[in-house]
Amino acid sequence: MLKVLIVYDSRSGNTEKMAHVVAEGVEEEGVGVEVKKVEDASVDELPEVDGLILGSPVYYGLPTGRLKEFIDASVKYHGKLDGKVGGAFASAGGSHTGAETTIIALNEALFIHGMVIQGTSGSNHYGAASVGAPDDKDADNCKELGKRVASLVKRLHG
Ligand SMILES: Cc1cc2nc3c(=O)[nH]c(=O)nc-3n(C[C@H](O)[C@H](O)[C@H](O)COP(=O)(O)O)c2cc1C
Repeated sequence: MLKVLIVYDSRSGNTEKMAHVVAEGVEEEGVGVEVKKVEDASVDELPEVDGLILGSPVYYGLPTGRLKEFIDASVKYHGKLDGKVGGAFASAGGSHTGAETTIIALNEALFIHGMVIQGTSGSNHYGAASVGAPDDKDADNCKELGKRVASLVKRLHG
């Protein structure tokens, strides 16, 4: 079965809520999904999945150190993740205070792995963002992210 792994960091639960809504979107497309806190995730799962979505709180306009440690550990599979589908989401403390830079930083790492990332002409062009806990509109964007990643996984790997 096609599978997407969602790896997120979250201290106060906002990014965690987003992760579960992104997962609902993946499931709605009939693609398998696993949601893991970064401290419970292993890079050894990466070769087995068709898509990887990273989620982080915004810390000084960037992903958290724990997410960065996971990304750095993924060098173990450098060259092996080429062509898999990627995506990213972030929870910030405010508007225009670093959500986009955080999402782009996550996407950059996925690009370097050779992953395929689809933007959107709808809202949240780079990936899903929220201020604090996701409200209904943020949740729609999270679900849409999951659906779009899963749909691309089906087109590329189905
Ligand atoms: C160390 C630290 C740095 C932060 N830096 C930013 C920041 O640069 N911009 C911002 O909007 N929010 C910032 N925040 C707020 C968090 O991104 C925000 O509260 C987020 O929703 C927390 O997500 P979580 O509940 O998943 O942990 C920071 C929080 C902490 C603890």
